Amino acid sequence: MAITDEISRRRTFAIISHPDAGKTTLTEKLLLFGGAIHVAGAVKSNKIKKTATSDWMEIEKQRGISVATSVMGFNYGNYKINILDTPGHQDFAEDTFRTLTAVDSVIIVVDVAKGVETQTRRLMEVCRMRNTPVIIFVNKLDREGRDPFDILDELEQELKIGVRPLSWPINIGAKFKGVYNIYEHGLDLFTPSKQTVSERVEIDDVNSPQVDELVGETDAAKLREDLELIEGVYPEFDEQAYLRGETAPVFFGSALNTFGVKELLDCFVKIAPAPQPVQAMEREVRPEEEGFSGFVFKIHANMDPNHRSCIAFVKVCSGKFERNAPYKHIRLDKTLRFAAPTAFMAQKKSVVDEAYPGDIVGIPDTGNFKIGDTLTSGEQLHFKGLPSFSPEMFKYIENADPMKQKQLDKGINQLMDEGVAQLFINQFNNRKIIGTVGQLQFEVIQYRLLHEYGAQCRWEPVSLYKACWIESDDDEALAAFKRRKQQFMALDKEGRDVFLADSNYVLQMAQSDFPAIRFHFSSEF
Ligand code: G4P
Repeated sequence: MAITDEISRRRTFAIISHPDAGKTTLTEKLLLFGGAIHVAGAVKSNKIKKTATSDWMEIEKQRGISVATSVMGFNYGNYKINILDTPGHQDFAEDTFRTLTAVDSVIIVVDVAKGVETQTRRLMEVCRMRNTPVIIFVNKLDREGRDPFDILDELEQELKIGVRPLSWPINIGAKFKGVYNIYEHGLDLFTPSKQTVSERVEIDDVNSPQVDELVGETDAAKLREDLELIEGVYPEFDEQAYLRGETAPVFFGSALNTFGVKELLDCFVKIAPAPQPVQAMEREVRPEEEGFSGFVFKIHANMDPNHRSCIAFVKVCSGKFERNAPYKHIRLDKTLRFAAPTAFMAQKKSVVDEAYPGDIVGIPDTGNFKIGDTLTSGEQLHFKGLPSFSPEMFKYIENADPMKQKQLDKGINQLMDEGVAQLFINQFNNRKIIGTVGQLQFEVIQYRLLHEYGAQCRWEPVSLYKACWIESDDDEALAAFKRRKQQFMALDKEGRDVFLADSNYVLQMAQSDFPAIRFHFSSEF
């Protein structure tokens, strides 16, 4: 097959949601359709329990299995689908942000009873920054929930994106009868079932008496009324607007009952984008170019402390990736060959000889890679778009075992390269500050330092509000700012200037007192 055919049949995407909306269930049902798994329940084990108190060992155990489920590739008809898994726990949101840099589109799952929740909102912000095309699946229609028109309004307002329903529910909860598929003109009738696929009745015209026979006169009348309203209020589905990330098609269904899932998948493969050009610092890189290029968006550490190897996940951006071919590691300025790259098909890892744009290859690594590293066939390229965001929580990290300072430093460095959290070094007192999105990451770090590096750390409180990356065209103004705020100036691990504001008020004052300084809340600007 020509490389252009390989590219055009690939769909690389992530499913995102607030915990409990049904991401795992939907993923699993998609895998069932792709024949990648044969029983429901196979993906579940990957889930980190979302209990309030974190069960540490549970997470460790699951980290082991989650390498296999980090990327799930399968064939569906002519299409090669790559689903990139994102961690359910919100304390690992940073991981999810990075995964979103490696996908060409996303499916957002929303619970019909809960509507848009915090995590959905935050993830959508990242999609908006990158104009990622979005399809929304409103889930759990078999349960009592909100009025679908209310949900659409909320999606539009909260996610700041145009919406266009492509299917429409007939009642919800106990009276749920099915959905009318606006995209394909058919009625999907609902029979609760966790394993089988619903029956489709093709309907040419929603006014046909057949609809009354199938769902009853009252519900048929309501459906016609709703559809009329939809046609009146929402503009026709515009595929280009979807591809530009301006409009999100909306589907309704019940993942648990495998209802509306096949319809979602069928529409998804048709409209979702094939691998797109990726912006490097030097130029835009197109997938069909001959030269191979790719970047590392995730590093997965091995659980086994005796083999401290990692897997670096490389997204292929252009050309063909080949096993044992010489590739240039741009940051290290070194040529490397990979003897055992793995592909992720049907939840299994196996050594691959080649991979195409849109694919993810796992490269066993012993410390060569950092998140964001670029590999190419030789060209000097640096892929952009892996920003760090300001952490939400900060703590000083101190050595609790003076004999193990070296191990501690090494451990901290490697964990930061893996992207577990962010390190800032305060320039005033030289103390190390770790910034995270949630409490759980501190526990992860402490545990891993001990078990993988034999180092012990202690956390000490530091009261900080946000980390801002600062820059200015005016060197004097920058120097003056740094002098004034010297107690709060730090360097990130790339050596960039970061201002650690201890309150929103201080930050606002700094912004108004120093107009020549630009404050950024993510490391890429
Ligand atoms: P997540 O990955 O987004 O966190 O959600 P997950 O799929 O784990 O689903 C969260 C809960 O919602 C699960 O129940 C799941 O069975 C349920 N669920 C998912 N889709 C539907 C649906 O369409 N209808 C209904 N009624 N429930 C749905 P749980 O009790 O937390 O887990 P389990 O004990 O069922 O495994």
